[in-house]
Amino acid sequence: MDKSKLSAASIAAQALGWIDPVTKAVTPAIHPSTTYIRDPDNQYRSGRIYARDNNPSYDQAEAVLAALEGAEGAAVFASGMAAATAVFLALAPGDHVLAPKVMYWSLRNWLMTEATRWGLKVELVDTHDLDAVRAALRPGETKLVWLETPANPLWTVTDIAAVAEAAHAAGARVAVDSTVATPVLTRPLALGADLVMHSATKYLNGHSDVIAGALATARDDETRQRIKRIRAEHG
Ligand SMILES: Cc1ncc(COP(=O)(O)O)c(C=O)c1O
Repeated sequence: MDKSKLSAASIAAQALGWIDPVTKAVTPAIHPSTTYIRDPDNQYRSGRIYARDNNPSYDQAEAVLAALEGAEGAAVFASGMAAATAVFLALAPGDHVLAPKVMYWSLRNWLMTEATRWGLKVELVDTHDLDAVRAALRPGETKLVWLETPANPLWTVTDIAAVAEAAHAAGARVAVDSTVATPVLTRPLALGADLVMHSATKYLNGHSDVIAGALATARDDETRQRIKRIRAEHG
């Protein structure tokens, strides 16, 4: 069966049909081990070294998220904030970024304090106003346009496809905090975004009993590799 043609409901319900090859369990095991045994010659041929970024417990969740978002790959994080800040930390000091005036307050707070202290040039715009976005884009200097749609707390809606077209023309990537929409209602990558972020703490989990974040990327490119390195090094 071509799994890319499954509806979001089927992907979520079947979780790609993964079965534990050893126990035949239909629900993934939780692996508490922090580290993995080396081969006798000191190599890690299993591909797993340390559980800060390599834990089989979340392989399936990442694969399901990637399928739901139509992404090349997905990575889960310890929180939505950890996922979001990894995207900005993958930029370089001096880079110009646009972010919405209306967005999750704690991320905006981090951007205007810690991220600017570290050297990012953060400019807040009304991202639902395409003319305002076009006017704020600095071709060659703007590296990222961060969107949140619908945006917490006013549910302001931004046209992802239109912003992506303008941003790409200026040489900037587009990342979308899609926490509120979930991939059931919006697939930002299909609309031209480069990256999707979730506070999985919210609707992706749905039970108010998990803090988690996720990033799904359109391509396995340098940005994705930098983000994975940041997750490996920051946890
Ligand atoms: C839209 C949105 N993005 C990001 C976050 C941050 O996610 P977390 O609380 O999982 O760190 C939140 C949390 O409220 C949110 O509502």
